[in-house]
Amino acid sequence: MTIDFPPGFVWGTSTASHQTEGGNWNNDWWEFEHRADSGCREPSGDAVDHFHRYPDDIRMLRDLGFRAYRFSIEWSRIEPEDNEWSRAALDHYRRMLACCHEFDVTPVVTFHHFTTPRWLAARGGWTDPAIVDRFARFCERSVNAFGDLIGMGCTINEPNVVSVLGYISSDFPPGARDFEGYAKVNENMIAAHRKSYDVIKAGPGDFPLGLTLSMSDWWAPEGAEDRLERTRFGHEGQFCAAAKGDDYFGVQAYSRTRLDEQGMPTGPEPGVELLDMGYEYWPQGLEVSIRYAAEKTGIPLYVTENGIGTTDDAQRIRYTTEALEGVGRCLADGLDVRGYFHWSLMDNFEWNQGYVPQFGLVAVDRETQARTAKPSAYWLGEIARQNKLTQP
Ligand code: GCO
Repeated sequence: MTIDFPPGFVWGTSTASHQTEGGNWNNDWWEFEHRADSGCREPSGDAVDHFHRYPDDIRMLRDLGFRAYRFSIEWSRIEPEDNEWSRAALDHYRRMLACCHEFDVTPVVTFHHFTTPRWLAARGGWTDPAIVDRFARFCERSVNAFGDLIGMGCTINEPNVVSVLGYISSDFPPGARDFEGYAKVNENMIAAHRKSYDVIKAGPGDFPLGLTLSMSDWWAPEGAEDRLERTRFGHEGQFCAAAKGDDYFGVQAYSRTRLDEQGMPTGPEPGVELLDMGYEYWPQGLEVSIRYAAEKTGIPLYVTENGIGTTDDAQRIRYTTEALEGVGRCLADGLDVRGYFHWSLMDNFEWNQGYVPQFGLVAVDRETQARTAKPSAYWLGEIARQNKLTQP
């Protein structure tokens, strides 16, 4: 069985600043991960020192066969205090973008990937509507500094995760259980996406722009279909609606979410393989998410994250094969899917789970920071090079 992907289909890998750079002490995540009651497994520390090692990392992904690299810029480095701007940080990210171009890799810049400057978090963070203008101002400063080098942009990564993990499950900063706060965060993130979208599109630079969303294959027992659709709209549909008219929509899907009769999240199905992340081995979640996003947005799609946290690299290959087969079925049905970014280039800081879940195509020895490509890196890089998936 062979899947020939369309000409121009983009193959890339994704990372995020706080998970890879190291030393991002001035944001809400650094504060949270050092809180005794946060439930975080360990602090991010030096992460994988990507702040200094990015040239070798970008060369590595290019040599593996990928031609696009999605990474995020760190707001707390660029604006360390309210309306104080770091030229050095802006220059650093301009150099990262220039490095991508030097290696013929399209840079995909995420403007907000979960982390918010401490000075803003202290004022209520995303529950405070004032953050919408603050975020737009940060985006304007950033795009003025390096927008001419950006190949693709993402305003906000997974706004739905910031709200639900931060204000419902309390696994993310600020570790609250506050439904009103959850609703305010969703509202302000959608407003920030819309305002920053206009600011970024004003240039400099001319590149596709969208938001990326954490999506899932949703399941509920018979009779709970209404609750399922309401929950799915809250987690996904309202953001799809907010993205209508954007250049693209980023689908990020890993597994399945199961609800009980009352529409509340319930555990994995007995007998379905469980992963380090605590959710099911469920690669078919990607196809389901692509189809939902296509229906609800009507705009071009990129898979901007898909992957598996596992120490079993053969399982990573099996999972990714099944996920890509789902992408192939969507393409065969005429859905406009334009690229696939694997999460992640390297093993990195998996938020409150620390460094245990290994999502990388490339392993990192965090004592020496040495990088070692896993068999899956060569396997997926070859698929990227040939733009086709051939099953034995
Ligand atoms: C997310 C984030 C990534 C995660 C990845 C693996 O989707 O939660 O964008 O930062 O590390 O998804 O869980």
